[in-house]
Amino acid sequence: MILSLEVKGLSNESSVVWSIEPHTQAKHEILGNYLKAWFPILSSWAGRIIYLDGFAGPGVYSGGEDGSPVIALQTAVGHTLRMRFKEIVFYFIEKDPDRAKMLTEVLKKRFPNLPKNITYRVQGAEFAPTLEQVLTELEKRESKLAPTFAFLDPFGFSGLPMKLIGRMMSYDSCEVLITFMAGFVKRFLDELRAPVLNELFASEEWKQACDMGDPDKHLRFLLDLYERQLRNVGGAKYVRSFGMIGPQNQLIYYLVYGTKHLRGLEVMKEAMCKVDRRGTYTFSDFTDVDQTYIIDYTEEPHWIPKAAEMVYNEFKGKSVSEDAIHQFVIASTPFIYRKSVLEYLEKDSPPKIIKVTERKKRFSYPKGCVITFCK
Ligand SMILES: C[S@@+](CC[C@H](N)C(=O)[O-])C[C@H]1O[C@@H](n2cnc3c(N)ncnc32)[C@H](O)[C@@H]1O
Repeated sequence: MILSLEVKGLSNESSVVWSIEPHTQAKHEILGNYLKAWFPILSSWAGRIIYLDGFAGPGVYSGGEDGSPVIALQTAVGHTLRMRFKEIVFYFIEKDPDRAKMLTEVLKKRFPNLPKNITYRVQGAEFAPTLEQVLTELEKRESKLAPTFAFLDPFGFSGLPMKLIGRMMSYDSCEVLITFMAGFVKRFLDELRAPVLNELFASEEWKQACDMGDPDKHLRFLLDLYERQLRNVGGAKYVRSFGMIGPQNQLIYYLVYGTKHLRGLEVMKEAMCKVDRRGTYTFSDFTDVDQTYIIDYTEEPHWIPKAAEMVYNEFKGKSVSEDAIHQFVIASTPFIYRKSVLEYLEKDSPPKIIKVTERKKRFSYPKGCVITFCK
């Protein structure tokens, strides 16, 4: 049923593979950028770590481009620090038997000789009951799930229960990157789909969106609800979303990231910003249709003044550690942390930063320094 609700051009019911869209390439770039940092960070203290792709797809697109399972495996296999990884288990779940078969073949061909510390498994099954079973078995054995990064990338919005995400994230260092098809949810909000939506949100609050006339408000409401539930039911401490905007300037989906660790959020923001250097977390494949979609602002980023304003509003009249400012920017603003934000405030006229302890050079903000903001 859900396949008939697919975004046009993403797939069709009968095809095992389909053509890749620019927004999918951007999503893959975010995934690759993130894993490149996540594998060594987690491997530095954890033994086994798991990459779980719950809606894995066939592993390849019709033009020969790599699917998410290949991107993830290749990031580990080709990593300069690979020898330091203790053990990475890749677990790919794909419901469609033909796509699961194709994925198995693609991976065999692409990775005929994996190093001992990297293994994978393809399971032709549905994500939710499969993960439920894995977790139940672990619980029976009184074991714990190893630190897991779960990429959950369905076409629509069924088969992705929020309570299951919460069950997985109750284990240490488990986090999620979810494709949240807010546009779909908006179009199909009706009582007929109530059981699916109740499961998706672990709440019936989505029903309030049915009475909202303004489409933007509607979408915002659904995303806010999803993010809130990912915190309250999913157990994520930090949640950040990245909007993918399509050719008619319409929202295709949000990529929603949830974690319990600020460092994870920082790494994800950096991964997102490498794709969209505007830092607004809105990627449009409309504006960049005839050129590279990686927008690289190598000049002073235009978001610095906005980030500086948020920092100043938070800390005016106070003396705070540089680390507290760093944490604030990562946890409470849409921006990444750059010391040029502080430099901008200090060079402002009149200067918004009036004192910096423990520094030897002007406009430097060393670790451990305390920064005083004017009133
Ligand atoms: C958007 S595609 C995945 C694309 C892939 N993640 C990539 O980036 O290359 C979604 C996939 O999920 C599969 N699927 C749909 N419902 C599923 C479910 N309940 N459990 C597991 N897989 C499912 C579909 O057959 C499809 O191949």
